[in-house]
Amino acid sequence: MLEPPKTTQSPPFRITRASHLAYTVRDLSRSRDFYTEVLGLVVSDEDRDTLYLRGIEERVHHSLVLKRTDGAPACIRAGLLTEDEEDLEKAKFFFTQRGMRAEFVEVPHQARTLHTTDVAGTPLELYSKMTRAERLDQRFEALRGAGALRFDHYQIAAPDIQKAASFYADLGFRIVDYMVVSGQPVGIFLHIKDTVYDVVFIRRPGPALHHYGYIVGGINDIIRACDVAGRLGYGDHVEFGPGRHSLGHSYYVYLLDPDRHRVELLPPPSYYGDADDGPVVHDLTGVPRVTESWGLPPRSSWLKNASLFEGTVCTSPPPGGPEPSLEAYLKMT
Ligand SMILES: [Fe+2]
Repeated sequence: MLEPPKTTQSPPFRITRASHLAYTVRDLSRSRDFYTEVLGLVVSDEDRDTLYLRGIEERVHHSLVLKRTDGAPACIRAGLLTEDEEDLEKAKFFFTQRGMRAEFVEVPHQARTLHTTDVAGTPLELYSKMTRAERLDQRFEALRGAGALRFDHYQIAAPDIQKAASFYADLGFRIVDYMVVSGQPVGIFLHIKDTVYDVVFIRRPGPALHHYGYIVGGINDIIRACDVAGRLGYGDHVEFGPGRHSLGHSYYVYLLDPDRHRVELLPPPSYYGDADDGPVVHDLTGVPRVTESWGLPPRSSWLKNASLFEGTVCTSPPPGGPEPSLEAYLKMT
């Protein structure tokens, strides 16, 4: 049986947190409505082909970048914030030494930015400084939808998650939860900032973006997002939840945006731990509900669908046990 990888205490460069995502959508205006009205994100900037969004307490220019496409919607990159510019130089050296392409690029509203990929093939964007923006969480009269506060984490589907987690543990990420089925890791949850998660790997065909999460003020904001989604014709885009995870201890809802990219809303962390707590190993062999402490399992779309990354080849892990979908659960009961 594999063990959770050990976190290095002296990473080659310093990552502060998972910071943002960029992906493509077919109709920027429709996406703008969804993200501002349902999630309550604010528009930092926009032009004909790009929309920059942020949560209401974020002081960075963007945590979500949407680009217009005429093709199939896809994810472009996942963003990681480094401590300072010196860390970007060290990161370039680190990735290049491992045979991974790493190049500095110009990105609007971000200072020096490094494009590279992780060992799972996830296209990454590392930067240390971004245009500053006003914090809007006290503008109560302007708040919309869930009033999403800040970007929290993203989850990547990948076939070899042990390799992916080892890579991030070598960069200083700590493993919080380590899910195992029949001796195989099926979900590895890592963080580097002081909330529960930053980057999560789930054993499925990938690399692909399964979802990302924004923190909201509380459970009432999750319900409000569902209410607004329903009113705007997105009732069937409330894909999973509201419910409560048994891992991470968080309430959640997963919504599909107009292009079926998946976003999770969750309240501020209800679990705080110490840096030396070490991973909690969850053996889920034969457990009918993997991620919920109550309620029904996710529908099969939540288990199977993910946003592919542009220009990457998706590969599948060896067959494992069936994941407990709502459809399978209903057949059993
Ligand atoms: Fe999540």
